Amino acid sequence: MNVQDEYRDQILTALEEAASHYKAILETTVDAIITIDNQGIVQTFNSAAEKIFSYRAEEVIGNNIKMLMPAPYRSEHDGYISRYLKTGVPKIIGIGRQVTGRRKDGTEFPMDLAVSEVPLKDKQVFTGIVRDITEHKRLEEQLVQSAKLAAVGKLVSGIAHEVNNPVSIIKMHIAGLMQDAESQKLPKDLMEVLRVIQRQNNKVSQIMAGLLAFSRQGSFSPEWTDVNQPMHAAARLVENTLQNQGIVYQAELADSLPKVFLDPVRIEQVLVNLFNNAIDTMSGGGVLTVSTALETDETHRDWVIIRVGDTGEGIDEEHIDQLFDPFFTTKEVGEGTGLGLSVSYGLIQEHGGRIEVSSQRDKGSEFQIYLPVTE
Ligand SMILES: Nc1ncnc2c1ncn2[C@@H]1O[C@H](COP(=O)(O)OP(=O)(O)OP(=O)(O)O)[C@@H](O)[C@H]1O
Ligand SMILES: [Mg+2]
Repeated sequence: MNVQDEYRDQILTALEEAASHYKAILETTVDAIITIDNQGIVQTFNSAAEKIFSYRAEEVIGNNIKMLMPAPYRSEHDGYISRYLKTGVPKIIGIGRQVTGRRKDGTEFPMDLAVSEVPLKDKQVFTGIVRDITEHKRLEEQLVQSAKLAAVGKLVSGIAHEVNNPVSIIKMHIAGLMQDAESQKLPKDLMEVLRVIQRQNNKVSQIMAGLLAFSRQGSFSPEWTDVNQPMHAAARLVENTLQNQGIVYQAELADSLPKVFLDPVRIEQVLVNLFNNAIDTMSGGGVLTVSTALETDETHRDWVIIRVGDTGEGIDEEHIDQLFDPFFTTKEVGEGTGLGLSVSYGLIQEHGGRIEVSSQRDKGSEFQIYLPVTE
């Protein structure tokens, strides 16, 4: 071997080492790294990308990157690259933004996307780094929701205290007036007016009591409990109503569930709230389905899951985001205050759990409560 050959071999080995070094980095990173050419055709697709999008690399490489995007973004995407190539003004490139990705099974998820341009000698390549931010988004929403609840709770308790004073003064004076009216034999219609005032005043005081209960939420007293127990208790409370409204109750409760550290009274309250909403949406009859189950998530945490489903009207897409907001209601004045779900949300959060909803217009809705199983 002459010196030149030896030198060439050394360079080749060094190059191979460098290449496998970079490949190892690319394949072990938790972020998806995808490269595309200036036509949007995928050139490389690392292991994390396979995991996040649940496609194998060979299913994606050679295809347009659009296959990883849901409908409205697909058509925009060609625009991004060609506009950038034409104008040099980046919209995503070099900036990064939150977009929606699409997995092989069609499900969508929120992701952070950072695109950078790699000017190679003979061609132009774009690298996209993608991070699945589903969990991040959920935590963010939970934080916003509890901040909202806390702020409203404060406001509500302030107002309730202020309003309670005049309400009790009115109450006292009406009682006095009614006594006078009776002893002095005042006209009947005057008596009737006093009664109306008394009834309405009592209503105000009831609403205020409800609001105060919402803002105070009492003390939390958890004990090791089988979730089927508050489920039975809640079902008993609505039994008659269900029967009267022609609603069938179907329960599929898992036995030998691990006990959960929960406050049975509060879980019962949450379930009654959900049952009442279900009853309201099935005025013409229907089926109320409840189930309990033990499930393990992808991070190996165990959850006891309670599902409450109905065959009612379903929930409009545009209302889903507001559903757990205090005072969000679609019910007539006097029929709903919009507190049921926001209170339930707070109660479940107190247990370290979460509550979610899925719904289809005219088919029905299902609420899922996740309670953590702890040692
Ligand atoms: N199972 C359901 N089916 C359809 N819509 C629902 C269902 N559960 C809740 N909703 C919608 O969510 C809104 C808020 O529910 P929430 O229980 O917080 O308040 P509400 O029932 O209106 O009043 P409250 O519970 O204070 O009496 C309801 O007004 C309704 O529009
Ligand atoms: Mg309700």
